Amino acid sequence: MPRSSDTEPRSGATAASTDMARVFAPLMREHDYAVDQIDGDLPPGLTGTLYRIGPGKWEVGRTLMHHLFDGDGMVSQFAFDGRSVRFRNRYVRTPQFRHGLVSGGPVRPGVGTPLPGGFWANFVKGKGPANPANTGIALHADRLLALWEGGPPHRLDPDTLETLGTYDFGGRLRGALKAFSAHPKWDPVTGEMFNFGQDFSPLPALNCWKVDRRGRLRRLARVRMANMPWNHDVALTTEHMVFVLDPYMFDLRTMFGGGASVFDAIRHRPEKGTRFVLVPRDGGPARVVEHEALVHVHVANAFEDGSDTVVDLVLFDDFEAIRRDLSDFRTRFTDLPSSRLTRYRITPAGRVIETPLSDRPGEFPQYDWRRSTRRHRYTYMTGRTGPSGEYDTVLKVDNDTGHTQAHEAGPHTYVGEPIFVPRAPDSAEDDGWLLAVVYLAAEHRSRLTILDARDLAPVADLHLPHHIPFGFHGTFTTRVADPGAPIPHPDRLPIR
Ligand SMILES: [Fe+2]
Repeated sequence: MPRSSDTEPRSGATAASTDMARVFAPLMREHDYAVDQIDGDLPPGLTGTLYRIGPGKWEVGRTLMHHLFDGDGMVSQFAFDGRSVRFRNRYVRTPQFRHGLVSGGPVRPGVGTPLPGGFWANFVKGKGPANPANTGIALHADRLLALWEGGPPHRLDPDTLETLGTYDFGGRLRGALKAFSAHPKWDPVTGEMFNFGQDFSPLPALNCWKVDRRGRLRRLARVRMANMPWNHDVALTTEHMVFVLDPYMFDLRTMFGGGASVFDAIRHRPEKGTRFVLVPRDGGPARVVEHEALVHVHVANAFEDGSDTVVDLVLFDDFEAIRRDLSDFRTRFTDLPSSRLTRYRITPAGRVIETPLSDRPGEFPQYDWRRSTRRHRYTYMTGRTGPSGEYDTVLKVDNDTGHTQAHEAGPHTYVGEPIFVPRAPDSAEDDGWLLAVVYLAAEHRSRLTILDARDLAPVADLHLPHHIPFGFHGTFTTRVADPGAPIPHPDRLPIR
């Protein structure tokens, strides 16, 4: 069995500490065990595998990376076979991870952690930020991919989580960075996956990728970007890829002048406004609708409603506070600025109609992926009990009525992104479970909480003997991972 002492923080904090920053303590051990402390009853119908990803440690050798985004990617796997749950975690064997095992510090900068030495050290010798493979995880066409928005995916074995190498879709993933962002979206009817990648050569642009159900990638479109704004997410309807491009502008003098990281060179320029960019899925010309400046990171679902296009996102009050909090995450991250789930309706005439969907602050919006690209009624988020403070709650927003239900995980907890799992392939939109990793600061360990998505009633808590460091995103598949099975070539793994 794993030893929880492997994960004790080095600060000397006591076991009863409620220091939320310990969610950023490293998990230095790779585990593989059956979860044996379960409160409640495991639903026998809940079978499949939950994969989650996030930074598992911020140490590269003896050097501590400064920024939340710069930690080494670690994948957690919960395999449900209907009777038991098996947990496994593995770091993605990126060059940064491997280098950190044998050296004192990084050879490439992070997006928020510059190397000493200015432009030459970071962008010539260092060749720009390292790919920590820590942001998103996708399973498509039999391939499990660990995603980071500034570079190519790392392909993993879905059973063992062994790193198989970077993956460029048979050479079809192009661009200066070969970027394939952390937020692909799926059409559940066609089985196609859509994503984008930022590109800076010869001019700043977003490459729009379409991957067919057999995994063949092609470039759908290329969207020109003004002054290299940063974009993290994309939405999908039956007709369009929907980008919401906020005026996050790279200050090139700051970025290349030396001393600042890429992320700290981003400035929010409200006078530039936000652009809604609708890229037709058939490859036609994009439509751009100007709007007043917004601040967001994540979108939720999108859909066509008659001749209107509708997209939901989590609207924040203040970008500068987000930027500061990410750069100083160990002391500030649990106090992000307030936010609210908001709907934007784009009319054929170019009007943008804004409608708040909930007044509860939250982040990491999720929904029933069977409703992806189609009108959905419910959005799930991690939330908090007050306008500021810790993300300690799972929220369910009824987009039709505005009614918001909440499940509070308790004091001094951090609740990760809730993933919806339908009870059956044809069950109603909210008839299923929500799976969320919850960090308990007082115990310095984590649990996987299973809620009934209909009323957020607790179903079961799976207590782990260690913590899972702060994580970003996850995905669920009905295929039950079998880490103990012989390893055939992953191309032959039967993934549904
Ligand atoms: Fe994200």
